[in-house]
Amino acid sequence: MSATHQLGKVVVTGKIPQPGLDLLIGADHTVVSWDDETAIGRDELLRRVVGADVIVSLLTEKIDAELLDAAGPQLRAVCNVAVGYNNIDVPACRERGVIATNTPGVLTDATADIAMALVLMTTRRLAEGERLIRSREPWQWGMFMMLGTGLQGARLGLVGMGQIGTALARRAKSFGMTIGYSNRRPVDPAIADELDAEYLSLDELLATSDVVSLHCPYSPETHHLIGPAQLTSMRNTAFLINTARGPVVDEAALVAALERGELAGAGLDVFEKEPEVHHGLLDRDDVVLIPHLGSATVETRTAMATLAARNALAILAGQGPVTPIG
Ligand code: GLV
Repeated sequence: MSATHQLGKVVVTGKIPQPGLDLLIGADHTVVSWDDETAIGRDELLRRVVGADVIVSLLTEKIDAELLDAAGPQLRAVCNVAVGYNNIDVPACRERGVIATNTPGVLTDATADIAMALVLMTTRRLAEGERLIRSREPWQWGMFMMLGTGLQGARLGLVGMGQIGTALARRAKSFGMTIGYSNRRPVDPAIADELDAEYLSLDELLATSDVVSLHCPYSPETHHLIGPAQLTSMRNTAFLINTARGPVVDEAALVAALERGELAGAGLDVFEKEPEVHHGLLDRDDVVLIPHLGSATVETRTAMATLAARNALAILAGQGPVTPIG
């Protein structure tokens, strides 16, 4: 260690894969970690962050002004172990000169895989079929039994065409789907050409897609982006997939729209009031519900933890962050 090497206190707000923790510990910083898989309580977190130079945060922890102030003025960075950062009050970080980072890139494929899995599960009624077998009810192959919807020639409408949306489009194209997308701006023409992707307004996309998949960040602008009017404008044979953030969809409106047959089904990895799930969804056969598994592979979670640790170390070493937010 050189004489100028500044050792810092790093508070890790939840259990992360060991390689990420080892990187931090190996750099000789004081690492205070929460090693339980259940989320740390707010009071305990407020106590632990006092004196932190860096907070390595999980998306279950709200990093707001109160928490930043509890840490103290020496706090230099908040490094989220997630690509979504709606748990962090980024303006409050900026006001205090605290750098915020996230983990883009490393979870793109895992999340696109889960979105494609939900597309298949909903359109081919896989969870419903699995429930039938497990119910021990008698069943027999039948010409008209549990018929689903084929993907070949169907249109996938992507709401948000960043890295994950693009990765899902590649997968869907290989299944024979055509691609439409809405986004703040058109994507790089090389990507649009490769995917033969059509740039649409959200209204056009909702009205013309057989599967609508959400890939936009959550922010005040995207709160309930998919509400009663948007659900009504979808084809009644269409499916809605959400692997982004729960509150992008008005869950009560989704239940009502499903009830009225305004769409054919939904595949949800994220929920409006996570971990609560709207009770109206729980008994429906036309929805597939999975517990926020988008990035849940050993490889991906390890890559996320090590990227967050690399951000923390770079900032503590006085270098720029590797993947800053905004
Ligand atoms: C997971 O939801 C993430 O944002 O990384």
